[in-house]
Amino acid sequence: MVPGTPQKAETRYPLYDDPAFWDVQARPIKPRAEPPVTASVINSGPSFLVSAINVYNTSLTNTVRVPPGAAVKVRLIEGFSGEEGIMTFGTTQFDGQSLYGEVPVMPDGSFAARVPANVPVHMQIVDKFALALANEAVWISGRAGEQRTCGGCHENRSEQSAVTPGQTQAMLSGAEDLDVPRVDRVSTNYTYGKVRGVPWDKALQPIFDSKCIACHDGDASKPGNRSFTVTDMTTGTSQTFVFDLTGKKVNVMVGEKMTGDFTASYLSIMGLGEILGEDVVMITGDKPFDFAVPANAAGSKVIEKLNPPQRFPTIDTSVRRFPGTPHLLDKGVADMTPDEYYLLGLSIDMGGQFFSRENKP
Ligand code: HEC
Ligand code: HEC
Repeated sequence: MVPGTPQKAETRYPLYDDPAFWDVQARPIKPRAEPPVTASVINSGPSFLVSAINVYNTSLTNTVRVPPGAAVKVRLIEGFSGEEGIMTFGTTQFDGQSLYGEVPVMPDGSFAARVPANVPVHMQIVDKFALALANEAVWISGRAGEQRTCGGCHENRSEQSAVTPGQTQAMLSGAEDLDVPRVDRVSTNYTYGKVRGVPWDKALQPIFDSKCIACHDGDASKPGNRSFTVTDMTTGTSQTFVFDLTGKKVNVMVGEKMTGDFTASYLSIMGLGEILGEDVVMITGDKPFDFAVPANAAGSKVIEKLNPPQRFPTIDTSVRRFPGTPHLLDKGVADMTPDEYYLLGLSIDMGGQFFSRENKP
């Protein structure tokens, strides 16, 4: 207001004015009886409820592509840090991850699960081949008894998320309880439903040993075993890597983080990643290994090559994720089992770690 301007109509007078405070949005109140306590719809245990009204409702169309009907499950993954005693999980710079489980996406697009409170969790939408369609790249968490229901996988924030007829199918049929004590949050075996962490040497190496190393044994003269040489201009060392799916440990002598932690199979599929660090390197020979994209199994060349079978609603090995003959059938050797396909996909979707709780050094 310009000082001296006459104020006629629309003058505001304070409802309440405490000169000691900056009173905004003051409201008149009066005493009333304390309302009765209503019970929570979920058991207020140590868990919190995470759910969505409709996972297809998303505004993240640049990163989330979920065609109608494609979302079969929501995968919920626990996160943990190096405080559990693992200093480096692998070469991919992802956090420690352990699977809670996968809960169904209902026909109305809803899902609901109960997971441990105060523990980081992230979600993936999973297709009928048990591969992630979208990965939530952040961790969320909830307090005990809290209900965190989101409109979708990030609905448009300026729109309303309506629920007809007032309750989602997932909530009507009850949230799936994935809350188990910490001591039980390790794989008891590596089958579907039991696997939590996917320790590379324990869970995946037996698959490579029985299904791959007859051909991919590090012998560069065999077809399919590409090789490249890294010359580290910073340290002056050089080393040749051959595609090799055996479980022998490799001493990496190039790059900033020289390490002997990982096996040939791990480096061949996940690549050297952060091992090279800031060192200036020159690469000669074939293309370096680029077979896996951490947190995106479906976008990984090794998964496309192997071509996993349908997992949901029933296993059907005649239906494959990609066009073309699966690699093992193409080579006339025994196929991987559906659980073996699942483990490799899960490992890559969970960040492609070498170490998890099950094999911590
Ligand atoms: C199953 C699908 C899905 C559901 C349900 C979902 N998210 Fe996400 N969320 C994602 C994906 C995918 C991304 C990553 C998007 C990207 O990379 O652009 C993400 C990113 C985020 C981010 C960081 C990006 C941002 O928007 O700020 C936060 C925070 C987040 N989610 C919180 C939540 C919360 C809270 C809920 C409800 C409890 C929830 N999410 C439900 C899939 C989901
Ligand atoms: C019978 C021999 C044989 C077996 C067993 C075999 N492969 Fe192969 N693989 C090949 C040959 C030959 C090629 C190169 C020609 C081609 O791509 O088909 C190849 C190529 C590949 C490539 C692409 C390599 C590149 O440089 O582009 C990957 C990845 C791969 N195999 C992974 C696997 C995995 C994982 C297994 C086990 C689950 C496996 N292979 C089992 C013979 C085999």
